[in-house]
Amino acid sequence: MSLGVCYYPEHWPETWWPDDARRMRALGIDHVRIGEFAWSRIEPARGDFRWEWLDRAFAVLAAAGLKIVLGTPTATPPKWLMDEHPEIAPIDERGRPRGFGSRRHYSFSSPVYARESARIVEAIAARYGRHAALAGWQTDNEYGCHDTVLSWGPDVRLGFQQWLRRRYQTPDVLNAAWGNVFWSMEATRFDEIELPNLTVTEPNPAAQLDFRRFSSEQVRAYDKLQTDIIRAHSPGRWITHNFMGFFTAFDHWEVGDNLDFASWDSYPIGFAEMFPFSEAEHARWRDTSHPDIAPFHHDLYRGVGRGRFWVMEQQPGPVNWAPYNPIPAPGMVKLWAIEAHAHGADVVSYFRWRQAPFAQEQMHAGLNLPGKHELSPGGHEAEAAAKDLARLGALAPTRQAPVALIYDYEAIWTIQIQPQGASYNPVELIFRWYEAVRRLGVDVDVVRPGASLAGYKLVLAPCLPIVSEIAERALSEAEGVVVFGPRSGSKTREFAIPGTLPPGPLAALLDMRVIEVSSMRPGASLRVTGVVSGRAERWRENIEAKADVIARFDDGGAAVVAQANAVYVGFWPDAEALESLIAHCAKRAGLEATPLPEGIRMRRRGDLTFVFNYGAAPWRAPDLRGETLLGAQDVPPRGAWVVRQGARA
Ligand code: GAL
Repeated sequence: MSLGVCYYPEHWPETWWPDDARRMRALGIDHVRIGEFAWSRIEPARGDFRWEWLDRAFAVLAAAGLKIVLGTPTATPPKWLMDEHPEIAPIDERGRPRGFGSRRHYSFSSPVYARESARIVEAIAARYGRHAALAGWQTDNEYGCHDTVLSWGPDVRLGFQQWLRRRYQTPDVLNAAWGNVFWSMEATRFDEIELPNLTVTEPNPAAQLDFRRFSSEQVRAYDKLQTDIIRAHSPGRWITHNFMGFFTAFDHWEVGDNLDFASWDSYPIGFAEMFPFSEAEHARWRDTSHPDIAPFHHDLYRGVGRGRFWVMEQQPGPVNWAPYNPIPAPGMVKLWAIEAHAHGADVVSYFRWRQAPFAQEQMHAGLNLPGKHELSPGGHEAEAAAKDLARLGALAPTRQAPVALIYDYEAIWTIQIQPQGASYNPVELIFRWYEAVRRLGVDVDVVRPGASLAGYKLVLAPCLPIVSEIAERALSEAEGVVVFGPRSGSKTREFAIPGTLPPGPLAALLDMRVIEVSSMRPGASLRVTGVVSGRAERWRENIEAKADVIARFDDGGAAVVAQANAVYVGFWPDAEALESLIAHCAKRAGLEATPLPEGIRMRRRGDLTFVFNYGAAPWRAPDLRGETLLGAQDVPPRGAWVVRQGARA
């Protein structure tokens, strides 16, 4: 339980460093992340290492009692390296190189860049890996940011062909798996296979899915290259990576396997700006963010981190990169820090110590104004957050939640590749289901497909078109109620329609078949009645069911089907239908629910219960018998109430 900050000593006169470090400690900060973009200062020319300034930065920060998180600087290869090896640059989907002058200008598949990354990581790890003030490492920075997971150059093509050869062994097996007989796409050799770009119309979806899998594995392998080197030089130090919000281009569960824990960069207002909310919702949440955006990611990355996570970057005020960048409502910069801890964070680290008056992010707030030593409004809130966290004392580990939400990256790629209806956004669907269950005041764990579902009363699988064997096993062993969203089991691993029709292997749990599907234009909808009531929009299925039909469309078709503890939802529910669906399933599962207003959320950690109010008016919470540690039962606007309820069974 503590606060951190991201600091760039190379941005400021060295004479400022001691005051900066002292003021960080005075504010209540104990961790500081440095170094992740500093390659041009560490090695201004090949082999010319300038460690002295970084040695001194370490010494100043350490002397103030700060623990250091060191980022490897590989998100920003310097100009001399790009000039020596222009082939490092990623190639965009139209075949053009992406140039120098910002960041992330490298391809994950470049063997040259792998070698150069290993070289710089080794040098840094050897120099600082055993430094007394070094707490741990961050690999690179935000893998995939600025749309850089997929690249389309010759190195990638070669790597993809080799990957396909390993996966399919012979071109005939690949042809059969992809259905290449269609449109004469058959290959006779692996080296004939092109990347799935620059085609006249859509490329084969099976090829696209394999390309997404391959590209995701490249990220994992690149991260592993770094973690292996760091571990060899830095015994006893942890390694993490700072993941992003609503980012799905690679499988975070797999990269998480390389790490000691996960961390993520929380910019709640920026992410709300970029989410497909209605205009009314955008207006409602414009300066607080939506109350599930940060929590959803905390729960996801707690899962990716196998129970442990940090917020490595926390929004401190307005950002610069969303379409609109409002100042957070007073209270939010503090609320977000407490909320992250409620969801299990070990450390919340603000981005950044001081606003930079120069370059790309000069309009992005920091904890200090761009001048010398003066806290910004966000800086004052961070100071208040540090005091509040001190009042909470040491926090217990999080417990398993009663609800599991299955989150599968491959599922998201599958639907993105073949939406079949322009508004079928898989991340939106998953987020809405999360929101609906959190409105019942219950805690949620986000879990990997295939993870054990033992102990969960309710399992939500809003988006699972491909059901792997391990996922199928975990689902069939689940003790709680399992709710499947539309399109579950609708594809094989090779991106084909299952021979038995959807829901494919899930027919073992639900005796039903999906005969036809229909996507709907905006404005079109269908009434649903039964145990679920509301409207189907965007998507509906025609289901043939021997299992029980517990809700129907207006035209008599089966809308929701149930058998034993499994429930299948054959449409995209509107808000009303989703609320009644989740309420029904929670009841079926015997969950204790506390229905909450739209701006209120609850979360437990150990024996503490947290209530958060994103709204503009105080909210009278139900009685939570116990000792109040923060706030009050009339939960202040943009504030929290924290109650110690004593040990629970
Ligand atoms: C993150 C990134 C930081 C900084 C920040 C601004 O995506 O990791 O380096 O750019 O956004 O909000």
